[in-house]
Amino acid sequence: MIATDQQVLNKDSWVDHEKGVVDRRIFSDPGIYAAELENIFARAWNFMCHESQIPETGDFFMNYIGENQVIVVRDRNGEIQVLLNTCPHRGNTVCRADQGKTRSFFCSYHGWNFDLDGKLVGVPGYENFYRSDLDKSEWGLSKAAQVSGYKGFIFATLDPAAPPLEDFLGWVGCLSIDMVAKNGAVEVLDGIQKNRIQCNWKLAVDNLFDWYHPKVSHYSALRTGMIDEAFLAPLQQMVLLGDYGHGISGPGVTEAEQAAFEAANKHLTNKDKLPNWRASEQAKAELGPVGIRATGHPNIFPNLWVSTGGTQLCLRIPRGPLETELWWFTLVEKSMNATERKKIVQMATHFFGPAGLLEQDDGENWSHSTRTSNLGATRDRPLNFAMGRGHDTVKLDPSGQSSIETAVNEHAQLWLYRSWQEWMKAEDWPSLIKNHSAAPTGTI
Ligand code: FES
Ligand SMILES: [Fe+2]
Repeated sequence: MIATDQQVLNKDSWVDHEKGVVDRRIFSDPGIYAAELENIFARAWNFMCHESQIPETGDFFMNYIGENQVIVVRDRNGEIQVLLNTCPHRGNTVCRADQGKTRSFFCSYHGWNFDLDGKLVGVPGYENFYRSDLDKSEWGLSKAAQVSGYKGFIFATLDPAAPPLEDFLGWVGCLSIDMVAKNGAVEVLDGIQKNRIQCNWKLAVDNLFDWYHPKVSHYSALRTGMIDEAFLAPLQQMVLLGDYGHGISGPGVTEAEQAAFEAANKHLTNKDKLPNWRASEQAKAELGPVGIRATGHPNIFPNLWVSTGGTQLCLRIPRGPLETELWWFTLVEKSMNATERKKIVQMATHFFGPAGLLEQDDGENWSHSTRTSNLGATRDRPLNFAMGRGHDTVKLDPSGQSSIETAVNEHAQLWLYRSWQEWMKAEDWPSLIKNHSAAPTGTI
């Protein structure tokens, strides 16, 4: 049966979290995609870069907010600016490099020149052609509405009504960064690995929570012996859900295992504890009693995967409804020497990214899922996200951190789509704040 416009327009029909089903049209419909750019990417706090990537005046890194390209640059006052990469004269881009260092941004069309804070400072023919009749203060580069950082991770939003970054992140978003920020002792290496996959961006996000697929999708990686099954597909799972769609899903350790680990760790000297940050008192204090036991994959909504191994971050950047660009950032501890850094780079290259063993398998599956999401014969057949639904309980710790500790499940994926639908239905930030679902309690 061919879908009617009405079916696409009925936002309530996209995700049925009671049944655990999702309308597969959301993975290819161009109208839904266009609305995502406005309702999600333009409103959310989007990850821009780590402050170590732009330490000095004039250092810049290019990124995207939805499909808007932005320049993230350190200005002459040491402040980080997020400037829209489009000249207000005819719309040409003013920066074509991926990253670098500059004194200004010079438009290659007619030569307007912009300072590091976006101000228009140079106009060829200002006196002779414009007759000095151009108010330069009105014709600078557009800027993100808000820029803010958490433990060195810089975010920006185009929406002046967005709540403060830490309110948006909530405890799950903050914990996701705490897991890798190690209290500010990390930096991002040069060389962001980028590749494109013919898939909808949400499938790439949904997959990072998915611990059902590894033994099947990544069987060839298992057979190489590089990764063992207990690591790739652990049965003991822990899910942490936060407001606005943030989540952490994957392996976890039980309270008893953690207690045994800590008892054993007491015999280690401080020096011995250092290489494993998770074993430190500082980690326990920062991550909290539940967070310290979670070792799954966090996603900061909408599209920042923080790899819990602590060595990689990945942005799933939309490039149209049928295409996603993956950007892999490599994190190292500042104190690491050259040999240790090299080892991290080798691991980062071999696990994920365009030359990795894992996402080649994933990407092929996502692209097939995307292609079949809008076929006349099957598009009315919803997709199933119901694994574990109704069978688990949210445990609330006295610290305020909550978790679901269970077998392999799809709780975080369903939470992602449920929250996605709420973002899509909200008229603006005040209505999203008022109407979004708080993280579930009780039976889930
Ligand atoms: S388009 Fe930039 S100076 Fe004309
Ligand atoms: Fe995978």
